[in-house]
Amino acid sequence: MKTEIIAHRGSKSNRPENTLAAFEEAKRVGSDGIELDVHLSKDQKVVVIHDDKLNRTTNGKGQIKNFTLEELKQLDAGSWFSPKYKGEEIPTLIEVLQLLADYKGILNIEFKTDRNIYPGIEARVFQLVQNYRRDLPVVYSSFNHESLIRLKKINPEADTALLLWERLADPWRYTEQVGATAQHLWEASAFSETTEQLHAHNIKVRAWTVNKPKNMHLAFNMGIDALITDYPEVALDLRRSF
Ligand code: G3P
Ligand code: CA
Repeated sequence: MKTEIIAHRGSKSNRPENTLAAFEEAKRVGSDGIELDVHLSKDQKVVVIHDDKLNRTTNGKGQIKNFTLEELKQLDAGSWFSPKYKGEEIPTLIEVLQLLADYKGILNIEFKTDRNIYPGIEARVFQLVQNYRRDLPVVYSSFNHESLIRLKKINPEADTALLLWERLADPWRYTEQVGATAQHLWEASAFSETTEQLHAHNIKVRAWTVNKPKNMHLAFNMGIDALITDYPEVALDLRRSF
């Protein structure tokens, strides 16, 4: 079985993360999947950015939830990475779905709901995917498993994955209870007997964030279902010669 290569926040190593430039690059190199993070603006629009705050990856300051989409769109989300990407905007989820109109891979949407500051985000995101790319295979993940449970109530068919740092004592039972089809495990936790145990229960394992070539090889050898990486091009090259 081929380990899929999922581009973390787009092609994060050589483009500003979670921007259209990063997703374009992930597509160009042939990533099997793309991972991104979602938040809500003050006017309830779904925007793609990693942190709750603007400070690290834009020229703005403060919490995303306190700004309207129009205000967020004035910000520069590229210059912090390189002057070459000056003018990259914080994308909306709609813009990303439109960019991926012809994309044949999977999309992994992570709900950044750890602090429960975006009530209703699950339904909004799901509706946008239905409206703009109903045919796109989407895996919804979150460290806040309540988000995944809420999404399954909205649509029991939604494909969900538990995000976890640590291995669970009874990993398959809990995963099945939540209705998830996969665990997205921190790489050190995935490189353990847990992967075999989960596979024995038909639960997929996707490891993050796998950036070292030796760990990419380990993922291939272990039959890990996917690796989420900042270096999709490197992982794709290694897999070709594996
Ligand atoms: O989905 C794996 C990974 O994206 C989770 O961590 O902080 O990069 O969103 P983070
Ligand atoms: Ca993420």
